[in-house]
Amino acid sequence: MRIRSSSSFGIPLIISLLFISTLSSYCLTPTASNLIRTTCKKITDGSPNLSYDFCVNSLQAAPNSHSAKDLRQLGDISFVLLRRNLTDSRSYIEQLLKHKKMETPMRIRVQGCVQIYSLAIFSAEEAFQHYNAKRYRDANTHVSAASTYVTTCEDGFSEIPGLVSPLTDINNVTSQLCDISNSIVTMFFD
Ligand SMILES: *[C@@H]1O[C@H](CO)[C@@H](O)[C@H](O)[C@H]1NC(C)=O
Ligand SMILES: *[C@@H]1O[C@H](CO)[C@@H](O)[C@H](O)[C@H]1NC(C)=O
Ligand SMILES: *[C@@H]1O[C@H](CO)[C@@H](O)[C@H](O)[C@H]1NC(C)=O
Repeated sequence: MRIRSSSSFGIPLIISLLFISTLSSYCLTPTASNLIRTTCKKITDGSPNLSYDFCVNSLQAAPNSHSAKDLRQLGDISFVLLRRNLTDSRSYIEQLLKHKKMETPMRIRVQGCVQIYSLAIFSAEEAFQHYNAKRYRDANTHVSAASTYVTTCEDGFSEIPGLVSPLTDINNVTSQLCDISNSIVTMFFD
């Protein structure tokens, strides 16, 4: 009787321990969506040029972001997103050149942006390789270069009075995506 009663006491104990550990793995591990929100909050606090909503929306829309388990994986996702957005943006600019009539000063600058975006894509790819190898300072250097290229594209248009950049929105998006990746990278600095 005594043995039986002690083992019947043991089973509920094991069940409740299992329950507590299951519960805590649900409650304490941040879900991907939580991870995105807390990371975007950290990134955009005190960064006037980076929008929290943009950060959350673009990371949530990125493939695989819903299964991101930690900051490392979210960083991966941000790099894939950055590279794809830079590449798509370059294609868009090439299409613009093909289909839109432009005066020479405008055309020269838009053509320049195609080259500049190629350099930015190259830098972002290098940054991603460094990130994968956990060389965070090098990753930072190369994402910063990509970001500077995007700024160079936009600044080209303000050289000539009256010229309005047709790429402001695109450059704004790619510039923010660079900043998101870079902010994640700097969180891994020792
Ligand atoms: C914000 O953007 C403006 C205009 O592009 C730029 O001059 C400024 O340096 C940026 N500020 C930061 C903190 O990046
Ligand atoms: C992007 O555009 C928003 C809204 O116009 C602006 O507040 C922000 O500073 C821009 N960010 C960059 C990086 O250019
Ligand atoms: C780049 O990313 C932004 C934000 O996620 C998205 O709205 C935009 O369509 C993308 N641009 C391209 C050319 O893929």
